[in-house]
Amino acid sequence: MELGAVNGILEKYQAKRTSLISILHDIQDQYNFLPETALKKVASSLQMDLNDLYGVATFYKSFSLVPKGRHSITLCLGTACHVRGGPKVLRQMKKELGIEPGQTTKDKNFSLEVVNCLGVCAIGPVMVVDGKFYGEMNWVRAKRIVEKIMKKENGGRA
Ligand code: FES
Repeated sequence: MELGAVNGILEKYQAKRTSLISILHDIQDQYNFLPETALKKVASSLQMDLNDLYGVATFYKSFSLVPKGRHSITLCLGTACHVRGGPKVLRQMKKELGIEPGQTTKDKNFSLEVVNCLGVCAIGPVMVVDGKFYGEMNWVRAKRIVEKIMKKENGGRA
């Protein structure tokens, strides 16, 4: 893997350990996940133990060690969202995307995640698409949202 961008990011933060989280964020933004080769490079530049670095990378939910899709779909299945129909929305998303939670579609367009409460139970079921919250979700609306993104990804073709 081309590590030019990682070198640039390390230079930007002068390879300071205190900037570790910012460095990892920039790498994640660049590659959409934290590639192993990049983490090895960071560990050696910051003179850190690679296991400690993995510890940090796995502690924060915003980091991923596996490639993510261009669009992230997160469904809440906490109690409030569950009783209001969250599982039906999940079933539709699994069908629509052909993946299970925690997976990314083959074309790398979508990643699907399930969480246990996003703190906005009153508007459940909640679905978050690329950081945007959608409340009172049902499977028909969820399908429409995903189809719209798919259409855009296909250059306007359905
Ligand atoms: S249970 Fe879904 S937001 Fe709280």
